[in-house]
Amino acid sequence: MNHFIYHKNELYCEDVPVQKIAQEVGTPFYLYSHATLKRHFLAFDGAFKGVQRLVCYSAKANANMAILRLLKSLGSGLDIVSGGELFRGIKAGISPEKIVYSGVGKRIDEIDYALDSGILMFNVESLEELDLIDKRAGLLKKKAPVAIRVNPDVDPQTHHYISTGLKKNKFGIDIKTAMEGYKIAGGLDNVEVIGIDCHIGSQITKVQPFEEALKSLKTLVTDLKELRIKIRYLDMGGGLGITYDDESPPDLGEYAKVIVESLKKSELKLILEPGRVIVGNAGILVTRALYRKSSSIKEFVIVDAGMNDLLRPTLYNAFHAIKPVVKSDNKLINADVVGPICESGDFLAMDREIPDAKNGDLLAVMSAGAYAFAMSSNYCSRLKVAEVMVKDDKFYVATQRQSYEDLVRGESVPPFINI
Ligand code: LLP
Repeated sequence: MNHFIYHKNELYCEDVPVQKIAQEVGTPFYLYSHATLKRHFLAFDGAFKGVQRLVCYSAKANANMAILRLLKSLGSGLDIVSGGELFRGIKAGISPEKIVYSGVGKRIDEIDYALDSGILMFNVESLEELDLIDKRAGLLKKKAPVAIRVNPDVDPQTHHYISTGLKKNKFGIDIKTAMEGYKIAGGLDNVEVIGIDCHIGSQITKVQPFEEALKSLKTLVTDLKELRIKIRYLDMGGGLGITYDDESPPDLGEYAKVIVESLKKSELKLILEPGRVIVGNAGILVTRALYRKSSSIKEFVIVDAGMNDLLRPTLYNAFHAIKPVVKSDNKLINADVVGPICESGDFLAMDREIPDAKNGDLLAVMSAGAYAFAMSSNYCSRLKVAEVMVKDDKFYVATQRQSYEDLVRGESVPPFINI
């Protein structure tokens, strides 16, 4: 069931009219549906019943504390890529034993923080990192649980910015070197090899790339067994795509079946790191039209949300459907929906057929739960917007809109500039 639906002509999130929230909170704001988040997580986790598993939601998609806490309450672990995400995860109450840490550029302080916290495993992305983790663990008198992130050289057939499992990508370690890595790790005093990991990309809309990657990983696990290196956890990463426009990603059952079939006879515990598929369609961005103008060749709808609030259209030419919050019998127009920022790349939609939107009208930018607020910035000293969560007929401001004072917090002018 979809929780962003029209009753009569008005868009609701669960039982709350979106317009009502806009009146109270102001625009722009992100809006998340509690019921959708819950349903997505439970459906995802449930699709893998039959195998031992741990779903580690990928914090980078949306690290809002309310969302993290909700997912934690449903049993989720966390996939992190920075000390900041570890901090958020712990603050949200997620047990460090359910946290996995990927990323090619882990700093010493971040490694130490993760070691001190007692995370489930480091997904190691280079031999130098392996060496550093061993040294730091030695100093801290800890044993670091590690997996090697393998780069299986699989084409995920997605946008080149978000493919991660190809030879040319910076991520992971190629299979041959990974084998070396495992041998080295086996001889290190302060690491314990417990897993194998991959993440081949994001917004993947076919099952086959996952299948291929899994096959490579399983072969490696078998080879490692011969060397008496025992792997307990197999981490498949995230990457399952969602429908923004007319994409038809595999349904959860189809995706899970491939993995479950392949693992059900093994003793490996499966780890998954879904991000987008949990939050992407559980959120929207609500913005207000400020002005209309037309040139000799274009019609522009100028809105109060810009590329600093939602970067995906600018960065990936990503499609987000744009819907009126209140439908009228408006004719359709063809327009660019643009923000207030001083860049031609500041658009939410280009040459898009949308219902006529006039000054003051509210628009909903759909599928904006993942990589949306998370990638927002203060560019042009614009305030980061509020994040609101709806549950049934109630809404709650989970993140306050920033104030001007927030913008300059932490900044100071050096004395040698004052006259
Ligand atoms: N695990 C790792 C190691 C990752 O790097 C990612 C995403 C995930 C899991 C979660 O992937 P998902 O299930 O969400 O596809 N900013 C881009 C997406 C970048 C994805 C980065 N890594 C976008 O807006 O499309």
